[in-house]
Amino acid sequence: MSKALKEALKGDPFAYPNPLVGCVIVKKGKIIGKGYHGFFGGPHAEPSAVKNCSESAKGADFYITMEPCSSINKKTPPCTDLLLQIKPKKVFIGSLDPNPAHNGKGVEILRKAGIKTETGILSKECENINSSFFKNMKENMPYVILKFAQSLNGKIADNKGNSRWISCEESRFFSQKLRAGCDCIIAGAKTIIKDNPLLTVRYPKAVKQPSVCIIDGCGKIPLNASVFKADRKVFIVVKKGFSFKGKIPKNARILEIPLKGDFLNNKILLKKLYKEGIRRILVEGGGETHGQFVFSGLFDEIYAFISPIIIGQKNSPSSVVWPDNYKIKKGLGIELKLKEEKNIGKDKLLIFGK
Ligand SMILES: NC(=O)c1ccc[n+]([C@@H]2O[C@H](COP(=O)([O-])OP(=O)(O)OC[C@H]3O[C@@H](n4cnc5c(N)ncnc54)[C@H](OP(=O)(O)O)[C@@H]3O)[C@@H](O)[C@H]2O)c1
Repeated sequence: MSKALKEALKGDPFAYPNPLVGCVIVKKGKIIGKGYHGFFGGPHAEPSAVKNCSESAKGADFYITMEPCSSINKKTPPCTDLLLQIKPKKVFIGSLDPNPAHNGKGVEILRKAGIKTETGILSKECENINSSFFKNMKENMPYVILKFAQSLNGKIADNKGNSRWISCEESRFFSQKLRAGCDCIIAGAKTIIKDNPLLTVRYPKAVKQPSVCIIDGCGKIPLNASVFKADRKVFIVVKKGFSFKGKIPKNARILEIPLKGDFLNNKILLKKLYKEGIRRILVEGGGETHGQFVFSGLFDEIYAFISPIIIGQKNSPSSVVWPDNYKIKKGLGIELKLKEEKNIGKDKLLIFGK
């Protein structure tokens, strides 16, 4: 199963928002085939592994990181059909499918057909590689990743708003991979005004551009901003009842969201985006936007690139900012769990969970 997990990870980032799934086929103690789900809409791990087999998979053991799919209303045929046809000796499964419509059904189909199955093999590890898929299925909410590049002293730009470039080239390439694995990028109005970013994926083999969502309560962003130039959907989020002046670009849509206190209610925004089919979001600043997501606990992971630079101006923006009157329940701030750290070029990447 650990080998199947390694296979599954090869699907990162193009399998999203589908789960990462790997499959290893073993006959007489020898691996005869391996495969993974490589891209959204593409073949699943099981048929990929069968296709790669050096001999017939009939009577072999299958190790699959997630329960085989059994539904017919989708882009690919059910993997249970393939397994019924092949008649494996035994199927070992990592995690069950968290989708309530499918949970346990694949296993039941195999068992009813007399195929031995065993579930729960390295189940935690198999679930962990698909934390965003599990969240989507269990909570009907998008998975939210915050990403920023900051100086050692927590600044994301100088006092004139210059932020290019705080992080090194290797970190920026890594960020492109993160973007490629998301179907929406969120940015605050000030970032659009100051940086005029494209927010596109320039990662090799990227198949689609994620949509963009700009939080712009009072409609201040210029409607000729670069973000509207790429071929993808752009949501402009304004407060409920605000009427946007000017001609909205063809690929843009206005989303009206009610206020919670002085700010837009980001929870309602996330729910709306989920209904629009958005499953995995990258929030790319700036600090005030991050602050709203962090303070209300509306994030799953934070990717902080820390660069060996100090930006000292008093009025330079910080990576996460909320209003002074927000009350912290315990201690000085919101505590996070460090999940992983990596050296990337001259930067340090720290990945946090809640
Ligand atoms: N180093 C990095 O990784 C990085 C990444 C991105 C940006 N940056 C830098 O960050 C700076 C901008 O950051 P910033 O903190 O000043 O601003 P920001 O977060 O980009 O934008 C803040 C604005 O977005 C709107 N907004 C965001 N969330 C909202 C909510 N829940 N409700 C209502 N409005 C909301 C508000 O617009 P209104 O006030 O108009 O309503 C708010 O003033 C720029 O200099 C940019 O270069 C750096």
